[in-house]
Amino acid sequence: GLEACLFDLDGVLVDTAKYHFLAWKKLANSLGFDFSEQQNEQLKGISRVESLRKILSWGGLDIPQQRQNELASLKNSWYVDMIANMRHEDLLPGAVELLNELRSNHVKIALGSASKNAKLILDNTRLTPYFDALVDGNIVSQSKPDPAVFLKGAELLQVLPSACVVFEDAVAGVEAALRGNMKTIGIGDQRELAKAHLVVDDLTHIDLKTIQNLF
Ligand code: BG6
Ligand code: MG
Repeated sequence: GLEACLFDLDGVLVDTAKYHFLAWKKLANSLGFDFSEQQNEQLKGISRVESLRKILSWGGLDIPQQRQNELASLKNSWYVDMIANMRHEDLLPGAVELLNELRSNHVKIALGSASKNAKLILDNTRLTPYFDALVDGNIVSQSKPDPAVFLKGAELLQVLPSACVVFEDAVAGVEAALRGNMKTIGIGDQRELAKAHLVVDDLTHIDLKTIQNLF
C-alpha cells in the first residue's frame, strides 16, 4: 500500500511552469526565433541545460558550449527575477490542503524536482517543513525521464518505489515515475499525460482516499 508521496515542484505545487516558459521564450526571441506552447510541453521536467539544447535545436542554432552556459545563466537570472516575489499565496490550489492531510496521516513526503531553484521556492512559499526529504537538480543530474530523482527520494525516505505515488505535470516526469515502478498522478491535460494512472486538473481533486485507491 501507500507509504510515500513524491512531488514535482514546478507546475504541481507552485505556478512556476509559466515563468520557465516566459523566460525561455524571451531567450529564444532574443536569438531571433520563437517556439510554441505545444513545444514547451517537451521542456517541462527537463533540466536547464537539456532545455536549452532542445530550444537551440528548434531554432536551428549551433552554439559553442561556453556561450550556451552564458545563455542558460541569462535565462535563469530572468526566471529568478520572476519568482523573487513568490509567497505562500502563490501555491497552486489544493497543494497545502493535500500536504496537511498526508502529514496528519503519517504518509511520508519528498520533493523530486529537476530545479536548482527548488530550495528558494520552498522557503519563499513556506513549504519546506512539509518535506521529509528533498531531491532537486543540485543533487541529481540525470534529467527526467530518467527515474533517478524519484528513486533517490524513495531511498532517502526508506520506502520501496512500489509504495510511492508521484505527482507530475510533465510528460517526462510521468515517464520517470513509471520507469521507477511508481504510481503516478498527472496534473494537467489528460491527452498530454495519458500514461499516468490518474490525471486531474489540479490538487483540489485529490485526497488521501483517491491516492490509496490506486493500490
Ligand atoms: C523543472 C521544470 O522543474 O526544472 C523545467 O519543469 C526546468 O522547466 C527545470 O527547466 C530546471 O529548473 P531550474 O530552476 O534549475 O532552471
Ligand atoms: Mg513540473
